[in-house]
Amino acid sequence: MQIHETIAGLRAARARAGPGKRLALVPTMGNLHDGHVALMTQARAHADQVIATIFVNRLQFRPGEDFEKYPRSFAADCERLAAAGVEHLFAPDETEMYPQPQTYHIEPPPEQAGILDGEFRPGHFRGVATVVMKLFQIAQPDIALFGKKDYQQLMVICNMVREFNLPIEIVGGETVRAADGLALSSRNGYLSAVERTEAPRLFRVLTKVIDAVRGGARDFPLLEQGAISELQGNGWVPDYVALRKKLDLQLPSAHDSGLVVLAAARLGSTRLIDNLEV
Ligand code: PAF
Repeated sequence: MQIHETIAGLRAARARAGPGKRLALVPTMGNLHDGHVALMTQARAHADQVIATIFVNRLQFRPGEDFEKYPRSFAADCERLAAAGVEHLFAPDETEMYPQPQTYHIEPPPEQAGILDGEFRPGHFRGVATVVMKLFQIAQPDIALFGKKDYQQLMVICNMVREFNLPIEIVGGETVRAADGLALSSRNGYLSAVERTEAPRLFRVLTKVIDAVRGGARDFPLLEQGAISELQGNGWVPDYVALRKKLDLQLPSAHDSGLVVLAAARLGSTRLIDNLEV
């Protein structure tokens, strides 16, 4: 695997790949787990060469969030990527990505980026969309893959690509879970042993919600409140549990199908997110 720390280095490698080669991009912030590896494997199936990126993007963190302590495990990440058959790793530092403060941004519309996670992390999706647009311009991939665990992020990126007519196919990778249901996340490492035992409850309460919807329940606020109460009763501080339309994450009416239930909740100092499609 070739490691590129500069934009010029990655672009030169891209040029060497030659015309007609299909390139897949898998952007990450590192501390890779099996969910990332599954994305790399999926990328491999779609493309001639896979470019992974590792960059902890300051723009998408709010003051007081975990930018400084975000887990960084570069050597182990490189081993995992090489074992997954990734050809190129783009791992720039901050001065390479932001040689001067970024003054131009991609501003996703509030109805997509100001709801759910965007309500609790204002500016988060602006930071994500801006760095993803930069990565797209730098790597110029044919296809890019993102995990469905970050469901709202995937929706924002799909809409950005469509509205800017970027010639990039966006593919969502299924969420990879531990045997007890906990969605794999780089932030799971923050959990204490006791919290790790409690953490799969998030998956279980979401499963209850989608089972109820599949069984014909249509009082969505009641289902959301039931899930919130169960989390609160077990020491969680939920930001939201929300049943939404899959396509645009807007509020569904009782006769809508194609739903997704999304949640974000704090367990101790760790904020976990998850979702399940109905
Ligand atoms: O999902 C992530 O890891 C990040 O939000 C992304 C897409 C790499 C942008 O920094």
